[in-house]
Amino acid sequence: MTSDQIRESFLKYFESKSHLRVSSSSLIPVGDPTLLLTTAGMVQFKSYFTGQSEPPSKRLTSSQKSFRVVDIDEVGDDTHLTLFEMLGNFSIGDYFKKEAVIFALDFFISVLELPKDNFVATVHHDDNETANIWKDNGIPTDKIFIFGDEDNWWGPAGLEGPCGPCSELHYDRGAEKGCGQQDCGPNCSYLQKGSDLLCDRYVELWNLVFMQFYHHIDGTRTTLPSPSVDTGLGLERLAAVMQDVKSVFDTDIFVPLLNTIVKITGLEYGIDSNSTYSMRVVAEHARSASFLLADGVVPGNEGRGYVLRRIIRRAIRHGLKLGLNKPFLGEIYRVVASQMGVAYPELRQHQDFIL
Ligand code: ALA
Repeated sequence: MTSDQIRESFLKYFESKSHLRVSSSSLIPVGDPTLLLTTAGMVQFKSYFTGQSEPPSKRLTSSQKSFRVVDIDEVGDDTHLTLFEMLGNFSIGDYFKKEAVIFALDFFISVLELPKDNFVATVHHDDNETANIWKDNGIPTDKIFIFGDEDNWWGPAGLEGPCGPCSELHYDRGAEKGCGQQDCGPNCSYLQKGSDLLCDRYVELWNLVFMQFYHHIDGTRTTLPSPSVDTGLGLERLAAVMQDVKSVFDTDIFVPLLNTIVKITGLEYGIDSNSTYSMRVVAEHARSASFLLADGVVPGNEGRGYVLRRIIRRAIRHGLKLGLNKPFLGEIYRVVASQMGVAYPELRQHQDFIL
C-alpha cells in the first residue's frame, strides 16, 4: 500500500465506525500559548476534552501534520523525523478503553492484514483493566509489557492540558532485527548488533491514550468531565512496516525526495554512511520547512521562526557536505508539493511564498 492509501484506509475505517473526519489543523496551534508547534492530533481538540466547547461529533478522526522540535538533531538516523503525520481516532466522552483496543486490532489485522502474532502491547503499571482487555482480544500475557509513567503516561501537550495513562501497540520486526539480548522487548534500550543505534526490533506504532485528567500549570491534576480517548499512529512508521522496509527513508514518502537529491548531487544513496545521513537530513528538513512555510511561519530569531531557521540552516550545512553550493531546497519543495499537495493543499496554494 502507498502512504496515501494507508492514510485513506485509516480515515475510511473510522468513518465506517461513525467517526467524523476532521482536516489537519495548522502547525501553528490556535489558542494555545504554551505550545510552540502542533505536536499531536489532539491539540486542536483540547477544548472538547475539557468540556469548554462542544465537538461536532463525539467520535472524530484525522491525519494531523505534527512537528517535534526535540528530535531535530537526531534526524538522519533510521527513525527520527521533525515533521510526521499522526493518524488518530478520538472519543470525546463516548467510547473508552475496550472499544479503542478493539478498533486498533481490527484495523491492523482485518483491514491492513498485518499478522496478529507480530504485535505486543504495553500498558501503564496501574492499568490492569487495559491489560485484561488486550488478553480478552487475543494478545497473550507474554506479549503484554508493563511500564511506568515515563513510557505509558501521555500529556499534557504544552504546559497544561488533558493527560492520562496510555497503552501502545508495538510491531515486532523479528528477533534477527534485534539486539540479541534475552530481555529485548518493546522500548528496548540496548544497541543494535554491530552499530551505535538503538535496538529497533520493536517499532512503536500506535499510542492509545485514556484521557482522564487535566494537568494544570502548577502541577496539580483534576478529573476531566468524562473519560475520553486520544490515539496517535505515525503514518511514516506504519508505511515502513507495510512496505517492509528498514527505515522511514525507504518508504514512498521519502524515496522521491532522495531521488531528487541523488539527481542534483550526482551521488549514490546508501553507499556511504556520511553522505546517506546528509541526504536524509536534506530530504527531511526540506519537507518539514515546506510545511512550516505553508502554514505561514517565516525564518526568524525566536520561537517558531527560529525552529524554521534552524532546520533550513541544518539542511544547507548538510547540502554543502554533499557539494551543493547553489540553492537547492526549492527543487525539493516542488517534489514535496507534487507528492503531498492533494492531502495538504496549502503546500500548492502558497507555492510562491514557499519558494
Ligand atoms: N497524543 C498521543 C501521542 O501523541 C496519542 O502519542
